[in-house]
Amino acid sequence: MSEEIVKFGIFGAGSIAIYRHTPEISNNPWGQVVAIYDPITERAEWLADQLEQRYGIEVEVAESEQAILDNPEIEAVVVATPNKHHARLTIAALEAGKHVLCEKPMATSLEDAQKMIDTAKRTGKKLMIGHNQRLMPPHVKAKQLLEQGVIGDVLSFRTSFGHAGPEGWSQDKGPHTWFFKKEEAYVGTMGDLGVHKTDLIRWLLGTEVKEAAAFIETLAKKNEKGEPITVEDNAVCILKMESGAVGQLTASWTYTAAEDNITIIYGTKGQMVLGANPDFPVEVMLANGEQAKYKVGAVATNNVQVASGIPDEFIDCILDDVEPRISGEEGKKALAIVVACLKSAATGQIAKVEK
Ligand SMILES: NC(=O)c1ccc[n+]([C@@H]2O[C@H](COP(=O)([O-])OP(=O)(O)OC[C@H]3O[C@@H](n4cnc5c(N)ncnc54)[C@H](O)[C@@H]3O)[C@@H](O)[C@H]2O)c1
Repeated sequence: MSEEIVKFGIFGAGSIAIYRHTPEISNNPWGQVVAIYDPITERAEWLADQLEQRYGIEVEVAESEQAILDNPEIEAVVVATPNKHHARLTIAALEAGKHVLCEKPMATSLEDAQKMIDTAKRTGKKLMIGHNQRLMPPHVKAKQLLEQGVIGDVLSFRTSFGHAGPEGWSQDKGPHTWFFKKEEAYVGTMGDLGVHKTDLIRWLLGTEVKEAAAFIETLAKKNEKGEPITVEDNAVCILKMESGAVGQLTASWTYTAAEDNITIIYGTKGQMVLGANPDFPVEVMLANGEQAKYKVGAVATNNVQVASGIPDEFIDCILDDVEPRISGEEGKKALAIVVACLKSAATGQIAKVEK
C-alpha cells in the first residue's frame, strides 16, 4: 500500500457531500478534501469552513470546474452534482488524470455511461459509483446467507425505497429543487431511489434482470409554479431475472409518513426480511419453523445517517491499485434496468434490459 494521502476535489457542496462524502473522506486517515467547487459559491464556502473547523484542514474554494481539473495536487474527485453533470464531469476528470467517485445514477443515458467506462479504461484511472446499499451491513449479511443457501433457491422478492421526497433533503430546499426537473435530473424517483434497488437486487441475487414491466407516474409532486413536476414521483415495477425469479420493485417520493427501505426475498426453504425491524434488520423465517434474527448495523435512511463506507472503499482501491467492485460497469447495469422500466412504462409493453 502506498503511504500517500489521497487528496480530493469535490464537485457539488450539496447534501450528499455534506452528510457523507466529505466527513467520510476526512475521517479516513488516508483521505483529505483539498478543494470544493459549487456554482453556488456560498455552499462551497460553508462546507469548506465546516471542514476546516471540524478537522483542522485547509480547504480551497475553487473558482471553477476547471480549477479542480487543473489542480495537480488533486488525485481523485467526487462528482456529487445534479445527474445531468455526472457524465461530463466524470469524463473531464478522468481525462485530467483523476480517479472518479461518481454518484448515482451514474449518467442520464446508457451511451454516456459507456463513455465513462471507456474513458476510465483508456486513462487507466479508477471509476466507482456511489451504490452504497450494497455496503449496508444488513445487506452484506443477507448476501452471505443467500450464498449459503439458507432460504434455498430464490423464487421471488419485493424491494422498496420510498420517502416523502427529495425537496426536504436537497440543498435546493423546496419545490424548485433540481430533483424535480427533467432537464437536470433526467429521471425522478427511479433515478433517486429505484436505481439503488436495481443495483441491490441484482447484486444480492447474483443474477441479472432480464425483463421489466412498469407503471411510472407523477401523482402528487408540484414544482414552484404549482404545476406537476416533469419527472415521476412513483414507480411500481415487475422484474424478471435470468434465474427465472420474478419480483417487484417500488420507488416513491410520496411515502409521506415514514420511509420504506425494506426488501423481502422468498426462497424454496423460507424467506428473509431486510430493514423492517430496526433492532434486527435481518430476519429469516424458514418453512420448517426455524427462525433467526441478526443485529447487524442498520439500513441507512435520510433521517438516520450512518457512514456509507463508499469513500473508504474508493480510497482503498486507489491505494491498493485494485478495480472498484462497484465499477462503472456495475453502475451501467443498474441504470439499464431503470431505462428498461421507463421504456416499459412509456410503451405499455414488457421491455428487455439492454446488456
Ligand atoms: N448515494 C446516495 O445514497 C445518494 C443520496 C442522495 C443523493 N445522491 C446523489 O448525489 C447527487 C447530488 O445530490 P444531493 O442530494 O447532494 O443534491 P443537492 O441538491 O443537495 O446538491 C447538489 C449540489 O450540486 C451543485 N452543483 C450544480 N451544478 C454543479 C456543477 N456543475 N459543479 C459542481 N456543483 C454543482 C448545486 O449547486 C448543489 O449545491 C445526485 O446525483 C444524487 O442522485 C446519492
